[in-house]
Parts: sequence; structure tokens; C-alpha cells
Amino acid sequence: MAVQPTPDPPPTVRTRFTVNGVEIDRESDCRTTLLDLLREQLDLTGTKKGCNRGECGTCTLLVDERRVNSCMILVASLHERRVTTIEGLARDERLHPVQQSFIDHDAFQCGFCTPGQIMSAVGCISEGHTRDDDEIREWMSGNICRCSAYPQITAAVRAASVG
Ligand code: FES
Ligand code: FES
Repeated sequence: MAVQPTPDPPPTVRTRFTVNGVEIDRESDCRTTLLDLLREQLDLTGTKKGCNRGECGTCTLLVDERRVNSCMILVASLHERRVTTIEGLARDERLHPVQQSFIDHDAFQCGFCTPGQIMSAVGCISEGHTRDDDEIREWMSGNICRCSAYPQITAAVRAASVG
């Protein structure tokens, strides 16, 4: 029987960036996504994996204050950039205003969907897409599961954007 050649190890890349203000400087397989790095290597499991192909919004977080689907971002592309996850929103035991607004407006979905919804809401507000409910709905539409709390989510984003 012919001996199969040993495949070459995948190429690696060194990347330096921050996650929630903490500097990350590491060599990783160049195919590693931000989502997998967070969940499997940094123990930051607040960001959830849904479709893993950029369709559901469950893995939404911020890179340099802009929303991204972290399952579609390679770690190799993050050099010198700032990543903020759901774990990085609260400050000194105080919830972020969007987290508080989700509580105040009973806007929680399941534990799987809520982190991405909150991160998307933070981005929606900082991007200025909150003129009215239609605009909020449009710019939150990347987070697709709306089992129950869609009107409450709109209300929470509206309130946090003016508060
Ligand atoms: S898990 Fe990233 S968009 Fe669905
Ligand atoms: S599956 Fe999470 S709220 Fe519907």
C-alpha cells in the first residue's frame, strides 16, 4: 500500500490587536476566524455561533466600533484593530446603557440570540441609524431570529439612542 505524504502544516500569521482593551499578540493558523479565536482560545464565549456563514447575526460584535459578523472575519485581518465583545460592554460593574435598556424594555431573546442583538444595537446607535422605528428595524435586520421580542427590541434601541 502506498504511503500517503504528510500534508504541510497550514501557514500561520502573527497578529496584534485588542479585545475589550486587552492586547492580543499571537501566531495563529491563517484560516482562524475571530469567532473561533474568541470562543475556543480566549474563553470569551458570550459571542455565539449560529450559522457560521454570515447569515444569522448571532456572532455580531464590534471591530473599531463597527458591527461585523465575527464568523466571517479572519484573525489575520485584525492587525492593530480594536475588538469589542459582549463581555466588554459593562464598565465597573455598571451595565452598558443598551444592556440596561434591553432589561427595562423586556427585550431579551434566548441566550443564544441576545448577545448578538445587543452588540448590533450598540452599533446601530453609534452608526446613527435610529431616526425612527422603521430605520431601527431595517438596520437591526441582520439579526434574524425574532421569536418573541421584536417590538421590545425596537423600543429598547430607541430608548438607548436618546438616553
Ligand atoms: S454565526 Fe456568524 S452570522 Fe451566523
Ligand atoms: S432562537 Fe433565540 S430568540 Fe429565537
